[in-house]
Amino acid sequence: ENFDLVVRNGTIATASDIIHCDVGVRDGRIVAMAEDLGTGKRELDASGKLVLPGGVDSHCHIEQASSSGVMTADDFYTGTVSACFGGTTTVIPFAAQARGQSLREVVDAYHLCAGPKAVIDYAFHLIISDPTPEVMGQELPALIEDGITSFKVYMTYDALKLDDYQMMTVLEEARRLGALVMVHAENHDVIRWLADRLLEQGHRAPKYHAVAHARIAEGEATSRAIQLAKLIDAPLLIVHVSAQEATDAIRKAQTEGLKIYGETCPQYLFLTAQDLDRDGMDGAMFCCSPPPRDAQAQEAIWRGLKNGTFQVFSSDHAPYRFDETAKLKHGPNAHFKQIANGVPGLELRLPLLFSEGVKKGRITLNEFVALTAANAAKLYGLFPRKGTIAVGADADFAIWDPDREVTVTYDMLHDAVGYTPYEGRTITGWPELVVSRGRIVVEDGSLHAEMGSGVFLECEKPDSARPLQRLEPEIDPARNWGFRL
Ligand code: URP
Ligand code: ZN
Ligand code: ZN
Ligand code: ZN
Repeated sequence: ENFDLVVRNGTIATASDIIHCDVGVRDGRIVAMAEDLGTGKRELDASGKLVLPGGVDSHCHIEQASSSGVMTADDFYTGTVSACFGGTTTVIPFAAQARGQSLREVVDAYHLCAGPKAVIDYAFHLIISDPTPEVMGQELPALIEDGITSFKVYMTYDALKLDDYQMMTVLEEARRLGALVMVHAENHDVIRWLADRLLEQGHRAPKYHAVAHARIAEGEATSRAIQLAKLIDAPLLIVHVSAQEATDAIRKAQTEGLKIYGETCPQYLFLTAQDLDRDGMDGAMFCCSPPPRDAQAQEAIWRGLKNGTFQVFSSDHAPYRFDETAKLKHGPNAHFKQIANGVPGLELRLPLLFSEGVKKGRITLNEFVALTAANAAKLYGLFPRKGTIAVGADADFAIWDPDREVTVTYDMLHDAVGYTPYEGRTITGWPELVVSRGRIVVEDGSLHAEMGSGVFLECEKPDSARPLQRLEPEIDPARNWGFRL
């Protein structure tokens, strides 16, 4: 046989093309794409099916403690198993620094968690909460050389937030080193002020989380982060955008030609603040930051996906169980600030967007692939190894039945969270067979991958992080009185 695996007669979609041909796989990579390829040790018939690049989920929290110390339900086994059942073959979770910790220690610890457990390939972003000169000047450059070329910072959460001075420091260092900065943009003091007023007035229910995390708090912080980045010519990615105010700010910056990128997530298309207003504490299942908003905001997010404001659609999988170990840790009378923030989404991210986006004509199949796989691989320095179907790429793809109808119930999912925010929803289109580096990892509804068979991916310094070299007058040595970055 010529190939380890041949997929015949499928309709293959990438971010740019739709091709009808066979795909030949050898040694974990795609080595041929043509009509009537020779034989393979294993052959799959994809007639009437779509063959799509495996999803790249570039925002998920796996085996990570929340800012208030609550552990995610998923470890690298359940998290990656859940991902691959949903057609995702690469995850980029976070190695999260607590203040005072060395980045190297943090990364070593996450490697120890991921290596023996992951069933699909993974890279890491850092979370930097303590940007000391030592961390930024010594540790970060070394980790970038080791293939961790992006990091997230927060403008809110007591345990994580950076002030604007620290934001400038971090943006400057990332610019110099070629790393991409991701920012959680919400105005900390606005949220704190609103929350204090709400609690004073006795408003404790989960739904008040959505009031405290006002859309203006998101819009303001997004605009501010963009201005800081613009001042020193640093590219920046705004993660998990939920509000039109933030979407508009990103769009405006892009229209100016700035390297400002945007990410959004399923919860901002399919949930609203009304979901937080359920009986008792049930609304806690839908508490995430920023919160889901309203139908109008959902429409603004759809428009942003269609018009290119958002390059990436990721899950922000932050799986906290709805029980006393996690969401209900502070008991049945907890107030909204005591609820761990986050919703699960690793497994349903692609099916939800396929069904509501592609099947309903809101986005094209090529846009779907760009948003769920190719763009994340490009933004984070993994393309074209990941995110596409092409000769030379890793054989990471899923065979989709575009017409299969599935009614979501938690029982069919593979995470350890215990609930899904999308219970009862009907989805059209499903990834039936999933291949990761040439290995069939999901077939006939069962897992075929071994624990620990995923590999760590070193990310290149991405193009996305290269500065424009378009300097504001105050920092341009040719136009100012001598200041240099
Ligand atoms: O509510 C969320 N998104 N929790 C996860 C942590 C984060 O800020 O992404
Ligand atoms: Zn054919
Ligand atoms: Zn965040
Ligand atoms: Zn997150």
